Amino acid sequence: MKRKIKPFRVIGAAAAFALLALVCVLSALGAEGTVADENGFARCDPTKVMGAEACAKCHEAEINVWHTTPHFGTFDTLHRKPEAKQIAEKLGLRSVKRNETCTKCHYTPQEVDGRQRIVAGVSCESCHGAARDWIDVHSDYGGENVTKEMETPAHREQRIKAAVAAGMNNPANLYSIARQCLACHTAPDEQLVNVGGHAAGTEDFELVAWSQGMILHNLLESGGTMIAPSPIERLRVMYVVGVMADLEASMRATAAATQKATYGVTAARRAAGLKKRLYAISEIVDNPQIAAATKAALAVELKLNNSEALRSAADEIARQAYEFAATADGAQLAAIDQLLPKPEAYKWEAAKR
Ligand code: HEC
Ligand code: HEC
Ligand code: HEC
Ligand code: HEC
Repeated sequence: MKRKIKPFRVIGAAAAFALLALVCVLSALGAEGTVADENGFARCDPTKVMGAEACAKCHEAEINVWHTTPHFGTFDTLHRKPEAKQIAEKLGLRSVKRNETCTKCHYTPQEVDGRQRIVAGVSCESCHGAARDWIDVHSDYGGENVTKEMETPAHREQRIKAAVAAGMNNPANLYSIARQCLACHTAPDEQLVNVGGHAAGTEDFELVAWSQGMILHNLLESGGTMIAPSPIERLRVMYVVGVMADLEASMRATAAATQKATYGVTAARRAAGLKKRLYAISEIVDNPQIAAATKAALAVELKLNNSEALRSAADEIARQAYEFAATADGAQLAAIDQLLPKPEAYKWEAAKR
């Protein structure tokens, strides 16, 4: 691999080593613009962050939706919250906005000339991947004078592939985005939870319900005028991908636990619940990736001092989830409908926006 990735400065040499190993795994998954932290969680690479202004020229409508979400708002509100100050105090941190312990999940850190600063709350690149290496291919429709309207379908397909290879988390593969959500929403940081008293992740996270309400920005089809719900065939795939990504992340979170306290116990309980959900899916859907991921999950015990086995099971689930997201045909997955959340359960229904 010839690309050089600069690890977060706070990570020591040993961790940087583990990180390198992981980056290799992740590039095999087609997620090159992402760096992973020492526990294997996807993080947006601050050295390649452009900031939402880089998207604004062409994606004003998406930006406007983002402005209405807590992902945007956390930038202005978090550091003022008494709960945030309390957590920071317990951890001995002087600034919520200047410490990586908080910035890696509540903000978009950008690194220029070796110095990190935060440029936004959770932003486009937090989910779609740091853009420096992919933004040019993403907006090249086949040469200088070729507009989007003139682009051939073959070029479009090849362009999306090239952007993904350069690190874009494209919605064409839902797993590539889901793993970003869960790297934050499982709050995988033992000190933060056990010492800081931070919530041990978003307890009721479920990808369909959490992505189809307030954060939904399917605006391309209407040219920016209407947010379109995702078709049911896509929601079926999304539901399964969400369970797999959450199970993977919860296993990694469990693997990172060193004590039997709130953090480790919550992570293991979460993983156990997801194992059951994946098993239930495998009972009603006949699919090779679901079967392989279920097998890997069932074979590993959710306990302390079992990190190696937990991490390799998580790696296997990740591979299967990526492959499932790339190949699954939602039309064949009607059995999932009984498990899908009702639109009323979507996190802030779009209609109430
Ligand atoms: C020069 C214009 C331009 C810029 C800059 C741009 N995009 Fe896009 N983007 C587009 C167009 C046009 C489409 C629709 C492409 C299509 O329908 O084939 C698109 C589509 C997308 C998609 C849907 C998947 C895909 O590849 O078609 C995502 C996600 C996306 N953009 C994210 C971003 C993000 C994040 C940024 C900023 C880091 C960004 N874009 C910057 C023009 C741009
Ligand atoms: C690993 C990711 C992660 C890290 C690191 C993290 N948080 Fe959070 N935090 C979250 C998520 C996700 C939520 C939203 C939980 C939800 O709504 O279910 C959250 C919610 C919160 C809330 C409640 C927000 C509200 O609207 O009331 C506070 C306060 C908070 N975090 C403070 C902090 C502070 C202070 C730090 C640094 C010391 C920090 N967090 C580090 C992921 C993280
Ligand atoms: C970089 C970390 C990060 C990523 C990636 C991320 N989130 Fe979040 N999310 C947060 C934090 C932090 C909050 C809480 C912000 C606050 O209230 O201050 C939050 C809040 C939310 C909320 C609002 C919750 C509420 O109770 O109001 C929803 C919904 C949500 N996220 C869904 C998602 C989905 C779906 C994805 C992936 C497609 C995702 N998030 C990706 C960090 C992240
Ligand atoms: C919290 C994670 C998250 C953030 C932040 C985010 N996106 Fe997305 N984006 C997604 C997900 C998930 C999808 C696929 C949704 C679906 O299929 O229902 C998506 C889809 C898209 C699409 C394709 C929509 C369509 O009409 O087909 C575009 C374009 C896009 N995002 C651009 C952006 C831009 C620009 C920003 C910043 C303003 C942004 N996104 C911020 C998660 C995110």
